[in-house]
Amino acid sequence: MVVVNKGLDNIYVKESKICFIDGENSKLYYRGFSIEELAEKSNFEEVAYLLIHGQLPTREQLSSFNSFLAENRGIEEIMNLMRLIPKTSHPVDMLRTAVSALGMHDSEASDNSRDATVRKALRVLAKAPTIVAAFDRLRKGKEPVKPDARLSHAANFLYMLSGKKPTEREAKILDIMLILHAEHEMNASSFSCSVTVSTLSDMYSAITSGIGTLKGPLHGGANEAALKMFMRVGDPSKAEEFVDEALRRKEKIMGFGHRIYKSLDPRYRVTKPIAAELAKQRGKMSLYETAVRVEDAAIKALAASKLFPNVDYYSGIVFSNLSIDPDLFTNIFTIARISGWAAHTLEYLEDNRLIRPKAYYTGTLDLKYVPIERRS
Ligand SMILES: CC(C)(COP(=O)(O)OP(=O)(O)OC[C@H]1O[C@@H](n2cnc3c(N)ncnc32)[C@H](O)[C@@H]1OP(=O)(O)O)[C@@H](O)C(=O)NCCC(=O)NCCS
Repeated sequence: MVVVNKGLDNIYVKESKICFIDGENSKLYYRGFSIEELAEKSNFEEVAYLLIHGQLPTREQLSSFNSFLAENRGIEEIMNLMRLIPKTSHPVDMLRTAVSALGMHDSEASDNSRDATVRKALRVLAKAPTIVAAFDRLRKGKEPVKPDARLSHAANFLYMLSGKKPTEREAKILDIMLILHAEHEMNASSFSCSVTVSTLSDMYSAITSGIGTLKGPLHGGANEAALKMFMRVGDPSKAEEFVDEALRRKEKIMGFGHRIYKSLDPRYRVTKPIAAELAKQRGKMSLYETAVRVEDAAIKALAASKLFPNVDYYSGIVFSNLSIDPDLFTNIFTIARISGWAAHTLEYLEDNRLIRPKAYYTGTLDLKYVPIERRS
């Protein structure tokens, strides 16, 4: 009997040492380290190194990793293209196009050795924040800001976006958010990257596929959709009515539910207090309180179905209070997730087999061809 696994639910595509999610017990590990410990004690560059190379770096290894990123943050090779991209484009479409274009400028484009593939991934990792910030400035009629080699990955992004050095705390908050978004096992976009590279394509094509897949509101677009949902609700007092109405119309509560987590997403636990801290500091408590009231009402209605808030529920509030426009949120996710995509792509290549599932054919066979003039 043929079994069709819709959404490839519960199908394993490879053995992996990158990430483990214990969805029943709210646990997430990168290379064996708990996400809570990494968010508290590590930084994004170190986590990216851990994901890609398999162990935490020594001081020297981290220093040369950081130098490589600093040396590769410039995007001069695609600046002409950046200026031609319509300013009205969605920033995710822009980033997908820009990353694809970078591949044609890479002097190692045709070298698919493991070392060159790692370097290509690190170049995309280094350049993605510069691309996202440059486009945001260009579309607002401002000139891009060049990266500052003295700043961290997170601080650099905020600096290139606004032209102002972020506070230590702002940079730390974005750094934590990047850590939380860096990796998440065989999610839809990591699978896309693996499918692409399984044909022995290349790292740029894999990451381009990943960005296109991450775009959707069921995946990386959920944080933007959740923030817009809170804005639509408008006021904390309207939360309960909104949830009742939405569920009656069979609409989804954005930032809720997960294929793997059947309990709270541990990344949500780290994000919520940060969202509260920033909302209070920025004097934007009404939106945060709306989110809390929607969350409470939705948990009451959905917990029995094992649907709980995920990382995307509060991350939009964090990003918007870091003065990041909502349509950039998915790109922040991408900036972080490139490290996880790279890790999965490299791991898949170690034991590559072409990914080629099957479709169970339910159509008809042996129909007679009818010339167009005789078709009714
Ligand atoms: C994440 C998500 C795509 C997982 O999807 P999935 O495993 O394929 O689960 P399904 O979409 O098939 O949902 C299963 C059931 O739960 C319901 N459900 C899932 N998420 C829901 C949500 N956020 N709000 C209300 N109901 C939800 C579905 O309507 C479905 O109900 P049914 O069985 O009565 O038809 C899904 O929960 C979702 O769309 N969430 C909102 C978007 C989001 O936050 N995405 C970010 C994920 S990190």
